[in-house]
Amino acid sequence: MTFVVTDNCIKCKYMDCVEVCPVDCFYEGDNMLVIHPDECIDCGVCEPECPASAIVADTEPGLDKWLKLNGDYAKVWPNITVKRDAPPDAKNWDGVPEKYEKFFSPEPGQGD
Ligand code: SF4
Ligand code: F3S
Repeated sequence: MTFVVTDNCIKCKYMDCVEVCPVDCFYEGDNMLVIHPDECIDCGVCEPECPASAIVADTEPGLDKWLKLNGDYAKVWPNITVKRDAPPDAKNWDGVPEKYEKFFSPEPGQGD
């Protein structure tokens, strides 16, 4: 089992999650983060920290796409353990549908 970052992180990218993870298993893309599924110890601490409710346990149904995306990009994006400022318009993107289809970026973020 692992926890998974899902659609609503895109363009919200609050980064509150990175500071609480005891094993530093968040990785940063240009406009979202992912969790490395082999490093996550399933502690669940990050889930309630996300203001966008974008982090879910992989026991939820329908997460195949997000499990694969988290695993794939955790291998190529840089590690992030320190929170920076969220995008200034983060609030405007909370709850916008189909963010993956419209806005997902495969580009890496800057990391720590
Ligand atoms: Fe890190 Fe725990 Fe969240 Fe996994 S569940 S990403 S170990 S804080
Ligand atoms: Fe994304 Fe939520 Fe973390 S919006 S960056 S999963 S706090």
